[in-house]
Amino acid sequence: MSDNTFDSYNTFGESSTPLTPVEPPALTAEFRDGLSAVDTSPDRPPEGDSWSSWDGALHGPNPRPAWVITDLGAVDEDLGILKTGKEADVHVLRRWVPRKSLEDTDDNAVYMAAKRFRDSDHRMFHRDAGYLEGRRVRRSREMRAMARRTDFGKAMISSQWASAEFNALSELWGIGLPVPYPVQISGTEVLMEFIGEDGRAAPRLAQTRPEPALLLDLFEQFRVTVSELALRGWAHGDLSPFNVLLHDDRLVIIDWPQIVDIIGNPRGPEFLQRDCHNMCAWFAGRGLVVDEGELFGDFMAAAMSRW
Ligand SMILES: Nc1ncnc2c1ncn2[C@@H]1O[C@H](COP(=O)(O)OP(=O)(O)O)[C@@H](O)[C@H]1O
Ligand SMILES: [Mg+2]
Repeated sequence: MSDNTFDSYNTFGESSTPLTPVEPPALTAEFRDGLSAVDTSPDRPPEGDSWSSWDGALHGPNPRPAWVITDLGAVDEDLGILKTGKEADVHVLRRWVPRKSLEDTDDNAVYMAAKRFRDSDHRMFHRDAGYLEGRRVRRSREMRAMARRTDFGKAMISSQWASAEFNALSELWGIGLPVPYPVQISGTEVLMEFIGEDGRAAPRLAQTRPEPALLLDLFEQFRVTVSELALRGWAHGDLSPFNVLLHDDRLVIIDWPQIVDIIGNPRGPEFLQRDCHNMCAWFAGRGLVVDEGELFGDFMAAAMSRW
């Protein structure tokens, strides 16, 4: 029995037809083109422009909102410039996790505003002088480079601006003020919550004409926010209806890198007064009766109450 089995096994081996080698495909021009169209380099994501820049960036404060995409397999796509400013360009960025299968219909894309501070001669340094005076940079080589505006110094200044904005947003978001959530910072780029709908940015307050009831409500939102800031000793420093977005009847205040210490900065009260004036002038222009002097007095009192 066992001999039999052995025999048939052996016979099977001997009688199997030998494999004939397969001819490799001819290296025609079409075949070569087909090969180069499939980019297999690990740097290319399957979709989007690049892999998500989340890994390797410094991340925003906790508790992190549920919409933030932390998946290392996520991809980014730059949808272009939203606005070119004096110191920075703001781009719209889309981040999503590519679908794992055809049945996966989940649209998990998130829009973010990418604020990129310039590190070239195209920047205007109008905010730098006063700002840098109060800023301690431990390494004096860096201080000298910034003062002399060498290329290295300019790059330093730009990343300091980016850090200043990121830190301010982190702090303010942490205490519940209406600012975009800062998602991440890397070098001179800050990614933050996109204020708007489906990649369309919310209008700046300056472009809007709210009806009287909403106008009054918005004034109250502005008053409460600036009071809470002042209570902590801060003023925005560049507040105007151009740095306030209106989304779903709520004000969201943006553009924070120059945030000012009202008492510590000799020009603090002056900045606060200008912020107060810019906003009051807009509300008055839209038909609201406002007492700018009294409001500024209240803000100053809030700032002084800490001392
Ligand atoms: N988080 C955001 N969501 C939507 N739009 C934004 C956001 N941040 C900036 N923007 C748009 O980009 C413009 C410029 O941004 P801002 O921070 O004010 O920079 P700048 O220093 O150039 O004034 C804003 O007026 C606004 O239209
Ligand atoms: Mg601005």
